[in-house]
Amino acid sequence: MPTLTRAGVSLSYRDEGKGPAVLLLHAFPLNSDCYWPQLESLSGKWRLIAPDHRGFGQSKVGQGPTEMRTMAEDALAILDACGVDRAVVAGVSMGGYAAMALLRVAPSRVRALVLVDTQARADDEEGRARREQTARAVEERGVEVLVESMLPKLVAPECKPEVRSRIKRQIEAASRQGAAAALRGMALRPDSREVLKEFKGPALVVAGEKDAIIPVDRAEELAGLLSGSRLVKLPGAGHLPQVEVAEAFNRELHAFLSTLNG
Ligand code: MLT
Repeated sequence: MPTLTRAGVSLSYRDEGKGPAVLLLHAFPLNSDCYWPQLESLSGKWRLIAPDHRGFGQSKVGQGPTEMRTMAEDALAILDACGVDRAVVAGVSMGGYAAMALLRVAPSRVRALVLVDTQARADDEEGRARREQTARAVEERGVEVLVESMLPKLVAPECKPEVRSRIKRQIEAASRQGAAAALRGMALRPDSREVLKEFKGPALVVAGEKDAIIPVDRAEELAGLLSGSRLVKLPGAGHLPQVEVAEAFNRELHAFLSTLNG
């Protein structure tokens, strides 16, 4: 995997395929491998750039909380290294928070948006306290805490066992410091509703109908905020439709990307 170093932190990313660039920002507590069905099927037509956020996969963790803005700036540095000025910016869940942060700091670099099982709202006080509790549990007992608490909610009950196992391996590969820093970073994220309202480009909003982590009405809200959006609800999928119902997801993504000109 190519790497670059940003302010002393080594960041790894996948860069596969040729064509218009699509930046794929991954969910918590996974890594760029959570886009394997897209990397396998869509890189014939598009250039897919998928970072490991700092503290995940092969990227090293930085100091303090990993704020969504930092993730966005890391992704921008990766686009720079790839010689890409504008990209379709896609994010699943936490990756969606990072995509909204990128839109806030560098709107001119966003050609189109794809937001999957994510939300524009910030955490409330209770949500922030819960994240801190989980961050401490992860620091003390390791990422097994996340396997136990999150894996049953990340995918729908009908998810194929091999898909569930691959997601589990990604959680197990996360470092406890990286996961705790991202939890604290997510707790600090601002509300993005105003930023989304300003965006007039094309957008695709996707939700797994059985998402047990972010309610589907948050996707409806996103679609309402984005004037150029199309909302797709995928049956049989939970929080990670890009792997749970990969074929249906890829069909939607392919159709959306094919509508983009220039
Ligand atoms: C994720 O899947 O990225 C996280 O569950 C998002 C969150 O905790 O808000």
